[in-house]
Amino acid sequence: MAQIFDRSSNALARMSLILTGLLIIALGLTLDELQRSPWVTRQGQRADQPVPFSHKHHVEGLGLQCQYCHTTVEDSSYAGIPPTKTCMNCHSQIWTDAQILQPVRTSWETGKSITWTRVHDLPDFVFFNHEIHVNKGIGCSTCHGRVDEMPIMYAQNSLQMEWCLNCHRNPAKNLRPTSEIYNMAWKAASELHPVWCAAETVNSGTPTAESVTCTEKRPQAGVQMADLSPPAGLHPQTVGTALRSEDTAPALLPAGLGYTKFTSQEALGLFLIQHYKIRPPRELSSCEVCHR
Ligand code: HEC
Ligand code: HEC
Ligand code: HEC
Ligand code: HEC
Ligand code: HEC
Repeated sequence: MAQIFDRSSNALARMSLILTGLLIIALGLTLDELQRSPWVTRQGQRADQPVPFSHKHHVEGLGLQCQYCHTTVEDSSYAGIPPTKTCMNCHSQIWTDAQILQPVRTSWETGKSITWTRVHDLPDFVFFNHEIHVNKGIGCSTCHGRVDEMPIMYAQNSLQMEWCLNCHRNPAKNLRPTSEIYNMAWKAASELHPVWCAAETVNSGTPTAESVTCTEKRPQAGVQMADLSPPAGLHPQTVGTALRSEDTAPALLPAGLGYTKFTSQEALGLFLIQHYKIRPPRELSSCEVCHR
């Protein structure tokens, strides 16, 4: 071969190989970038809906709870989209002539459901389940954002693998008491926003093995203090009467349960990980959890 291809053509071949390689990498990076772009993930985009349904009006304005419409979110993998009947509970009496509600009335008359455009839609090869997240202390707003402030629904987060893993690798920072799941304005525990929790050993029937009672208002008696120093969070020490001088209204919860005061999200997260029996990060981020 050496007679046919001299040194210079060798260099040329090598050069073109490198160039092709670079081109492939560039193409790969562009596709990868594209794949993550909001253009593909539709993150933040307002979908065209047959009826401009406003969560802001119905949740913030009228004070409706998420479960009123998304009835199955706590006990099935799907949150579910409400049937027309749910709308007609009110709209058979309110705004009965409004043009924008015509598709709702037509659906009611014909029995054909409204065809909502999906905003969140994972690929079929990904396993997702609302029940477990909601029952283990992940609030709607952690994944869907401030739905109560959305006139038109959009995806707050990308729902890409990295986003899921980012939490599965360190769930503590996102955990809240299950009683606060629907609280759109929930803030992580901090010095300024302390949270008191007490664990009962009663089995509540939900996937959480123990029932935890938490409150954002200082309980009346039996408060303990979570000490963050080693190893983060799980060594309560009684504070006694020191807290009684605080002028926040005491919560109406059974006193004497032995409440622990949490002034950091890390400490609260670790406490909830223990009581909600959440798997260690390594297990929770293994491929089989989401790809079965
Ligand atoms: C009065 C009924 C009603 C209430 C109350 C309600 N929703 Fe909805 N929700 C709907 C309807 C209808 C849709 C489908 C149309 C749309 O996307 O806006 C929807 C869509 C959604 C979607 C997007 C679904 C998709 O296509 O991916 C999310 C997320 C959602 N709701 C979360 C919530 C949360 C969180 C709450 C409580 C803060 C809530 N909803 C309260 C009726 C309701
Ligand atoms: C609990 C009663 C109730 C239910 C249930 C309800 N609505 Fe409404 N809806 C209202 C009221 C009250 C208004 C007027 C709000 C205003 O003007 O502030 C309204 C207003 C609207 C409007 C006008 C635009 C706006 O947001 O102001 C649309 C569109 C609408 N609703 C769609 C729906 C759909 C679709 C459903 C079912 C998924 C539904 N509503 C369920 C009470 C309800
Ligand atoms: C851990 C993140 C997470 C939490 C917490 C969460 N969701 Fe979702 N939600 C998702 C994902 C992901 C999808 C898309 C599911 C799919 O495509 O199969 C979704 C889809 C939905 C839908 C569309 C219909 C459906 O069932 O797929 C509604 C409605 C919804 N969520 C409401 C809620 C409500 C209400 C809460 C709080 C009680 C909540 N979600 C909590 C991640 C979450
Ligand atoms: C904000 C935190 C958070 C986000 C975001 C999140 N998860 Fe989870 N996920 C959890 C927690 C906590 C658990 C419960 C783990 C346990 O019980 O050991 C869980 C459990 C699961 C399980 C186990 C279900 C079972 O029955 O074993 C699946 C599957 C899952 N998540 C899929 C997803 C997917 C897919 C996404 C992204 C679309 C996602 N999760 C996003 C926190 C999160
Ligand atoms: C917490 C849930 C979760 C875990 C754990 C997880 N994945 Fe994924 N994976 C997803 C989601 C969600 C998508 C879809 C992303 C999208 O829509 O672009 C995905 C997509 C993929 C894809 C398709 C290409 C892509 O990037 O979109 C491959 C391949 C994949 N995952 C492999 C793996 C492997 C290998 C592991 C274990 C190391 C793993 N996944 C662990 C949630 C998960």
